[in-house]
Amino acid sequence: MTKIYRIDTAQQTLVLSSCQQCLPQVIYWGAPLRDSVDLADIHAAHMLDVTGGMLDENPDLSLSPEASRSFPGQAGLILRDANGALVYPAFSLESAGTATGLSLRCVDQKNGLTLIFDFAADTETGIITAQTTLEAAQPVHLDWLAAPVLPAPQQSDEMIDYSGRWIGEFQPNRIAWSAGIHARENRTGRTGHEHFPGLIIPCTGATNTQGEAYGFHYGWSGGHKMIAEELPDGRRQVQWGHAPQLELHAATRFETAPLYLAYSQTGLNGCGVAFQRHLRDRIVTWAKPDAPRPVHYNCWEAIYFDHNIDALKDIATRAAGLGAERFVLDDGWFGQRDDDTSGLGDWTVDRRKYPEGLGALTDHLSELGLGFGIWFEPEMVNPDSDLFRAHPHWALGKADQVLGRQQMVLDMANSEVCNYLYDCLSAILRTYPVEYIKWDHNRVLPAPDAAQTRGTYALLDRLRQNFPNVEIESCASGGGRIDFGIMARTQRVWLSDSNDALERLKIQHHAAQFLPMAVTGSHVGPRHCHTSGRTHSMAFRGWVAAQRHMGFEMDPRELTVEEAATLKFITNWWKDNRDWLYRADILRLDSPDPAVLAEQQISFDGGRFVAFIGKSDTGPQILPRPLRLTALDPQATYRINLVNRSDLTHLSRGAPALKSGPIDLSGIYLMRQGINLPWSFPDSMWVLEGTKL
Ligand code: DGJ
Repeated sequence: MTKIYRIDTAQQTLVLSSCQQCLPQVIYWGAPLRDSVDLADIHAAHMLDVTGGMLDENPDLSLSPEASRSFPGQAGLILRDANGALVYPAFSLESAGTATGLSLRCVDQKNGLTLIFDFAADTETGIITAQTTLEAAQPVHLDWLAAPVLPAPQQSDEMIDYSGRWIGEFQPNRIAWSAGIHARENRTGRTGHEHFPGLIIPCTGATNTQGEAYGFHYGWSGGHKMIAEELPDGRRQVQWGHAPQLELHAATRFETAPLYLAYSQTGLNGCGVAFQRHLRDRIVTWAKPDAPRPVHYNCWEAIYFDHNIDALKDIATRAAGLGAERFVLDDGWFGQRDDDTSGLGDWTVDRRKYPEGLGALTDHLSELGLGFGIWFEPEMVNPDSDLFRAHPHWALGKADQVLGRQQMVLDMANSEVCNYLYDCLSAILRTYPVEYIKWDHNRVLPAPDAAQTRGTYALLDRLRQNFPNVEIESCASGGGRIDFGIMARTQRVWLSDSNDALERLKIQHHAAQFLPMAVTGSHVGPRHCHTSGRTHSMAFRGWVAAQRHMGFEMDPRELTVEEAATLKFITNWWKDNRDWLYRADILRLDSPDPAVLAEQQISFDGGRFVAFIGKSDTGPQILPRPLRLTALDPQATYRINLVNRSDLTHLSRGAPALKSGPIDLSGIYLMRQGINLPWSFPDSMWVLEGTKL
């Protein structure tokens, strides 16, 4: 007896089958299948041959491959009984519910275990969400629980996963498929810079703009493991779950985080668009969904810990004059926080710096029309703090542990800790007109523990519930906590501590595989970058920030008249365009010049776009190569305009049409021939607007 199920969005179809009550397996994943297709044929066509040196049947690559059925690779569930003995479950499909999505319930009566696989298809964003839950009649110890296991295509030579570091997030790696396991495991206890929980599998020949690709994202902030394995028989599987042994106690219920699945026939961009839309329109809960994203000013790189009310008022006045709409007071306003060695945990205003509290500053901001945001790092404590002196046992880990940035981590599984933090934060939120929290997390855990992440999620949920108008930014030394789990509770990410426009250009480019403009913070940094020592023009810094949710972080007192004018021009351009850019798709272009990182942000209705063409190096050939645009109507005509013609340099001596004014070109020309750009310096950006006529 065979049972067959299908899950569809406009972009992808999943077909699953179960024979003789065995655990279901995915027998098709890819381009949408017609409604009328006979699933029994798909099931029959999926059957594999057997030859010498094999078992007499191929064990299923099921939603949780079972060691008890001789599966020749990584099992989807590894657990031990209360005494620590390994259990080898064998499940049977018990029931399938289709009321909301698809829910497959499987039982192992002998061991008292139930595995539930839930799938939800989002017909608008194209994402399929999958999650596994394990229930046990008696408490068990969990070593590994995979979210529903998917087969990976064999028409693929490589996979793309992401490494990173402080001031260097989202570095893509192309890894060739080969026999055995390629694994990424993050045991830091936070999402981390090091291993972003995402994977793209391009089919052979796919690029940003064409070909087939599969995308995965595991929405969890506590450290994950990904296993991409090629079995001896050639089949490939991809598994995702919390990092192994993240559950420290025996329990009767465990669940994975949601696993988000994308499939594309329009290159890597098809996966990118699905993730961007799903994050923006389904995961994030916006405080004011219809309000435009405000231009930020963040004071960190202007003053660091040197808080002076008059200086801050002056900075705020200048920032408002440049176009800022929200002022974020960063680290240093609380406790005895004169540097990063002390004060974390003491969340009351430092009266040495603010004798009358923060009111003098927030009143000034209100007069300027600026919203107010404030920095916290709730999960942390400095040993040199009143909190630690009063409650040393609230900190996680051994007393003689190695500190990180001179700080320890609070035990977020302890309700006393969370109540204390809730009281501190809510007191500040009630006293001052706070509309925004920058929520930082600057060190890894002394040891990973899923309960820590659940405690943080619960605190965030409680604050969001009671202060629904306050938005939160997820920051962890820059981009150390970016994932759909944290983004279900926050509205912006601090993508990186690098305000170096060149570094930022690259980080933003690759992060767009998952993140839309609406959530991705990007600031204009100081002229001389504090994290790289490089010097960049205001035009380059400004346009790179204008690619995402724009803000400023330099000291506005350092700006020349020309720099201020350039920044105002770019900020006004961003404000004029932000409404449609908010809903735009970011499409990364296939640049024939490795020095050029280019993207096209196209409006939801396809009627307009802007292309940001960043030049990161001098390039091998002397002239710019034509750049092909994408996703246009081939028959339509587009008016193309170079927005920042004024950035032309004296070394551009020829007469490309764009230098003298807009030009009308067909979609087919723009997508097949490509657009000729004027010569430019490295560390610069061309900004092209296109309007469908
Ligand atoms: C790390 C963050 O990424 C910075 O932006 C800043 O907020 C500092 N922490 C403050 O300590």
